Amino acid sequence: MSRPAHHATDMGRPRPISLVRRLLWTALGLSLLLLLGLLLPVWQGLQREPLPALIGPAALAEPDPQLVERGAYLARAGNCAACHTARGGPAYAGGEAIATPFGRAYGGNLTPDPQHGIGLWSADAFWRALHEGRSRDGRLLNPVFPYDSFTHITREDSDALYAFLRSLPPVAQPSTPQGLRFPFNQQAALAAWQALYFEPGALAPEPARGAEWNRGAYLVRGLGHCAACHATRDPLGGIREGRHFTGGLMAGQGWYAPSLHDPAEAGVGTWDVSNTVALLKTGSTLGAAAEQQATVQGPMAEVVFHSTQHLSEADLRAMAVYLQGLDSGPAPLGPFVHAEPSQLALGEQVYRQHCIDCHGASGEGAPAAYPALAGNRTVTMPSSVNALQAILSGGFAPSTAGNPRPYGMPPYRTILTNAEIAAVGSFIRQSWGNEAGAVSTLDVQRVR
Ligand code: HEC
Ligand code: HEC
Ligand code: HEC
Repeated sequence: MSRPAHHATDMGRPRPISLVRRLLWTALGLSLLLLLGLLLPVWQGLQREPLPALIGPAALAEPDPQLVERGAYLARAGNCAACHTARGGPAYAGGEAIATPFGRAYGGNLTPDPQHGIGLWSADAFWRALHEGRSRDGRLLNPVFPYDSFTHITREDSDALYAFLRSLPPVAQPSTPQGLRFPFNQQAALAAWQALYFEPGALAPEPARGAEWNRGAYLVRGLGHCAACHATRDPLGGIREGRHFTGGLMAGQGWYAPSLHDPAEAGVGTWDVSNTVALLKTGSTLGAAAEQQATVQGPMAEVVFHSTQHLSEADLRAMAVYLQGLDSGPAPLGPFVHAEPSQLALGEQVYRQHCIDCHGASGEGAPAAYPALAGNRTVTMPSSVNALQAILSGGFAPSTAGNPRPYGMPPYRTILTNAEIAAVGSFIRQSWGNEAGAVSTLDVQRVR
């Protein structure tokens, strides 16, 4: 999570006691006011609503097959399985640990098992969970469940998702208890978080932008919850207005989800819509014009594999149109740190020995097989985290129907030292016209 830079204040100079005391009182008064302002919504948040309407039928009378099918599609679009299905485990019966700066979170059992799943949930209770971040028993849910995005889901789509989940075979598997640290595991803390950062409700439609853009906004900001990774978050994990897609470090996972605004990161404002569609559909645009080439990796490869490759052409187009319409964000950063000549020399040596066969003598890559590193945004964006991840962990673009056998890259974790990876990192960031800051051994250490 990136934080705004704080400038150290000059605390060393002696000040008159009275001024210090006055400042202290002002600070105390302000904190009290803030606390009061928070307490009311917190108290309101802690009130639990009566249960009866939230208890649903143990078995749904006649599941409407069309509704179920629609729900299955929406569950792909919302990638519910990413957090609610464990690798190799039964579908939607509970997921693996999700690392957060506040501890571990677990997506629970969403199958219709009456004891461990949603077998006793009504459609109202299900809608309230998505819309308000509240469990059937009134408990506030932690926002790793991206209900700050899902609150935009329509009631119709919520009902379809509910019908789909209720149609699954029930799995009697208890959900793993949440593993957030104190105080983040407290209901009062979640109520405070909701009061500060969360407002339930649909997205305001913008008719002037057209139906396709509005559909795209719904998918990107709502169901697709792209902000779950691409937002810049406060230290408490909240997203302020306008920061939903400005890029953020995925704490605990060693990846940076780049800005969807900035053309120097993951912005696609200048891309052909068809290329953005291809990226979301196949995970790669290596056949496109040089400045619109990309392959997805790491967490984004999972998103493409489990979610976006399954979406209809029309929905992908709508998402691409919405992404294209995002502004390009603040001006690019100023000057960058040049690498020491000795580091660049070492980097070139490593590159010739280990990388040149695939990525080419001028970083030109190979058509439709190996990405060019010259002009590659993963290489040149201010954050070096993802390029270092690629070198450390290697990887494949996801295998998709449109690109079933992507070429892969071996991991260099055990082959190269941190100093060698930093050197080759600096070398590819400062060669062939690439202009990005040098990479230090410490940078590599952090990602490792
Ligand atoms: C990024 C991870 C993530 C994704 C994606 C996700 N969930 Fe969850 N979900 C969670 C976590 C974590 C919890 C548990 C929160 C808690 O208990 O405080 C949860 C809880 C829930 C609950 C409440 C369960 C209960 O017992 O109270 C429902 C309902 C739910 N999710 C439905 C969905 C649906 C439907 C989707 C897809 C549209 C989805 N989730 C996608 C992480 C996720
Ligand atoms: C689980 C976290 C996560 C989610 C959810 C997510 N992304 Fe990403 N995304 C990433 C990361 C990390 C990268 C950087 C790696 C890469 O370039 O593939 C990325 C990269 C991208 C890129 C640039 C790809 C490239 O190589 O130039 C685009 C475009 C993108 N995401 C769009 C989206 C959209 C649209 C959504 C919502 C449907 C989304 N992402 C949801 C984590 C995520
Ligand atoms: C066997 C061929 C091969 C070798 C050798 C190789 N790479 Fe790669 N590299 C690839 C492929 C294929 C990808 C795309 C993988 C993906 O999409 O996950 C890639 C991706 C990358 C990326 C991320 C680019 C992007 O667009 O996502 C970087 C950075 C990179 N390689 C650097 C290097 C460096 C540095 C070396 C040498 C230490 C190296 N590679 C060696 C094949 C190779």
